[in-house]
Amino acid sequence: MHTHVVILAAGKGTRMKSAEPKVLHRVAGQPLIEHVLTCAATVRPRTTTVVIGHQAEALTSALAGYEGLTFVVQEPQLGTAHALMTTERTLAKQTGTLVLLSGDVPLLKPETLQRLVERHHTTRAAATVVTAIVDDPRGYGRIVRSGQQIARIVEQKDASQAEQEIREINSGIYAFALEGLFDAVRSIAAENAQNEYYLPDLVAIYRERGAIVETVTVSNPDEIRGINSRIELAAVSRIVRDQKTAELMASGVTIEDPATTYVDTAVTVGTDTVLRPGTSLEGHTTIGRGCVVHSGVRIVDSRIGDRVTILNHCVITHATVADDASIGPFAHLRNDADVRAKAKVGNFVELKKTVLGAGSKANHLAYLGDATIGEQVNIGAGTITCNYDGVTKNQTVIEDGAFVGSDSQLIAPVTIGKGAYVGSGSTIRDDVPPGALAVSAGKQRNLDGWVARKKSSGQKAKG
Ligand code: UD1
Ligand code: CA
Repeated sequence: MHTHVVILAAGKGTRMKSAEPKVLHRVAGQPLIEHVLTCAATVRPRTTTVVIGHQAEALTSALAGYEGLTFVVQEPQLGTAHALMTTERTLAKQTGTLVLLSGDVPLLKPETLQRLVERHHTTRAAATVVTAIVDDPRGYGRIVRSGQQIARIVEQKDASQAEQEIREINSGIYAFALEGLFDAVRSIAAENAQNEYYLPDLVAIYRERGAIVETVTVSNPDEIRGINSRIELAAVSRIVRDQKTAELMASGVTIEDPATTYVDTAVTVGTDTVLRPGTSLEGHTTIGRGCVVHSGVRIVDSRIGDRVTILNHCVITHATVADDASIGPFAHLRNDADVRAKAKVGNFVELKKTVLGAGSKANHLAYLGDATIGEQVNIGAGTITCNYDGVTKNQTVIEDGAFVGSDSQLIAPVTIGKGAYVGSGSTIRDDVPPGALAVSAGKQRNLDGWVARKKSSGQKAKG
């Protein structure tokens, strides 16, 4: 039997108080809707339809990278049943099972979807609802049962005092038989506290007709948490982070303070690496074994080798750091910065599109951009590659074993040859041959007694 997925994502998300569509808010570095799409893909749907409305363009452009999605626009947004109705034309000729997901429920597990579909098929149900039993059901629709059977779902705002006591809630995730579905949904009325067309009303409609309605109850209610507010967004983020840090610790990573350690889902960390408090590892970052990442470090989409030390407050984005290198404190590596084995990048050093060769050192205060630096090079404090002439970015090449004295400006394009020396305070406009010493600062003059003369002339002016 074919499976089709519909994801509802047209709602305003009023409670988020945001200019952004709710489903583009991020959990563990990824928009809510992408979490849902990843899970949906595991049931191998024949079609996947996303219902959008509020800020439709923002959503379609954010999801442009996904293949095989159909977008339908729901305008205005009159409730979840109305949202499903907008997919009628798209799904008219399809048969089989429709799995309906909410764009704001990001933690659903593939195993649960699997269970939902299996249960739905084996019981030959018209509808199957995923439910959970929670301590605090406020805000959710409640599952009203008669005997064992689900009878209907009542929304928080329409629930009687007694119904509000019910702790079994509707997850907003369902499987439906496509056969007759849209005709049944069409009969839902908007006679409720919010004057909206509620999809959960379908349960009562089917039950009154004697159709089979089943439920699947998840054992861990965190899975079906919906996000309606920023408080819920933070709570769900916390759950995902706790899962990730627990996994890493189980695999042999020391995390000194999991509460302040932020590791995105796709990040990998090798054994015996230590993450000190307040570190942030984001995107597709990989970190090797035996590293120490000190407090205040943020690493995004970067590859870090084994036994690397990253001292406090470094920002490392789209960069590579090889084995046994040492970075920071207060270093900034970005855009393809490539620090090779045993190299050292010290405080207040920025690298952009630059290779720093094996064993080379830039220990203090330097800007190295668009540069290829060989092995065993020493970059003195205050060195700047002047890579930008106002129009184009130019390359600096510093060959193996060169020594660049402090406070030098290397005006690109320029090459410092193998083993060459650049005297402190030089402005280097021309290539330096291998083995040469380049000095550009003028000869020093000392003016004897100058200070005393200046002071006495100043006193005369005042008097
Ligand atoms: C909904 C359910 C509730 C359930 C809860 C689980 C209804 C009426 N209630 O409530 O029983 O416990 O989810 O999280 O369905 N949407 C549209 N178009 C609309 C309205 C909503 O696409 O016109 C989308 C939203 O973007 C969202 C989803 O449907 O992704 C759920 O809507 P929301 O308003 O968040 O419903 P809840 O009040 O959370
Ligand atoms: Ca919701």
